[in-house]
Amino acid sequence: MGRKSVEIVGLDVKGLIADLNSALADEWNATYQYWIASKIAMGINAPTVIKALEEILKDEQEHANELAERITQLNGTPITNPKKFGELCKCKFIEPPKDPSDLKKIVDDVLLAEACAIEGYNKLAEKTRGKDHVTYHLAVHIMQEEIEHEAKFELLLAKL
Ligand SMILES: [Fe+2]
Ligand SMILES: [Fe+2]
Repeated sequence: MGRKSVEIVGLDVKGLIADLNSALADEWNATYQYWIASKIAMGINAPTVIKALEEILKDEQEHANELAERITQLNGTPITNPKKFGELCKCKFIEPPKDPSDLKKIVDDVLLAEACAIEGYNKLAEKTRGKDHVTYHLAVHIMQEEIEHEAKFELLLAKL
């Protein structure tokens, strides 16, 4: 968008946009992973797990919004075709377990996605620190929320 706002980025902007799009693919994969799990989860503790999944997937969608906003600020285009998610993501999309009453597996898989997200945003923060303050703050902000998600699901797993 703004010429100056792109000019002050002390990094290869194309590469940065690619990193942001990769994170965007991960956020949509996580959103779908949590959403589909929330639709099929079964068993006595399913309501608790479903509630947690529904809450967290809203955060992941918000992360996707924030990433898309930063990409357009940098004159980039957020991924326009979901077919690209698989190609661009850094974290693998994890299908729900064959047995939808295996709530432990559902939560374990969420924890894998959260761990991968934390690692990704940590790397993005390291890469942008002192070079692109706006993306740096965004990466740290999202990472803080991913850390909260991990803690929440670790607690939930201990109760299952
Ligand atoms: Fe996220
Ligand atoms: Fe998360």
